[in-house]
Amino acid sequence: MSEILIDSTDGVMTVTINRVAKKNSFTQAMYAAFADALEQAKADSTVRVAVVQGDITVFSAGNDIADFLNNPTPGLNGPVLRFIRELVTFPKPLLAAVCGPAVGIGTTMLFHCDLVYAGDNAAFVMPFVNLGVCPEAGSSLLVPQMMGYHRAAEALLLGEPFMAEAALEVGLVNRIVPPTEANGLAQAQARKLAAKPLSSLMETKRLMKKGQMQQVLDVIDDEAQSFGRMMGEPAAREAFGAFMEKRKPDFSKV
Ligand code: COA
Repeated sequence: MSEILIDSTDGVMTVTINRVAKKNSFTQAMYAAFADALEQAKADSTVRVAVVQGDITVFSAGNDIADFLNNPTPGLNGPVLRFIRELVTFPKPLLAAVCGPAVGIGTTMLFHCDLVYAGDNAAFVMPFVNLGVCPEAGSSLLVPQMMGYHRAAEALLLGEPFMAEAALEVGLVNRIVPPTEANGLAQAQARKLAAKPLSSLMETKRLMKKGQMQQVLDVIDDEAQSFGRMMGEPAAREAFGAFMEKRKPDFSKV
């Protein structure tokens, strides 16, 4: 079965991350499939709203770490960057339903969603430093902006997880519900949006995002340059290797 499932019903395109055995971590192929879905939805007048959801136990464990090891130089035109750019520039309303761990891109993609509904088991973590890399998807700009610098430093420098309540408090999440209700709530809200005039929704989103769109895209490229370089360096190789070998990384020599 596909690891990115797409369903379009009643004007709502739902993207389900479907690789639960590997905690919904993203391979290059999954980024490409998600990017394709967003690109097509943008042009498809029958799609008015998009929703992304994972499993009730896990939203996404972020980038597949084996992929990180195998593709240490992804470049600026690879599927990850294509996915991030499609996400950031997606012109129609984009909702997320998040349950369980949301790691790395699992959290950073939410900064580009318009509405986020979380199960009370949602846990957000951006462990880029712990992996010997740096923030991505505009998070170095957007996390401090949304959370305040010091909370951002806890999340990005220490890589400390934060739970649904903290995400609600800073405004990353709109509402917390029992995990069994998160997907249903996102769908209900998406259907409300799908019944509204699409031109007004798109123009409103464009105007809300316009002030910082170019800055966000520039930051994403800047982050990607650093991330790509750092992936091949000793700290990241040690961190990725340690994850695959199920041991603690040793950064004493890097
Ligand atoms: N890349 C590749 N494989 C991953 C993965 C990832 N990001 N996250 C989990 N997996 C795999 C594990 O290796 C394991 O595979 P195995 O069954 O073949 O041994 C399987 O998914 C289950 O993961 P496990 O760690 O046992 O599940 P858990 O419930 O104890 O913990 C997480 C779940 C998400 C908290 C934990 O898997 C995790 O921290 N993953 C890494 C997240 C990360 O650093 N991502 C990169 C972000 S940039």
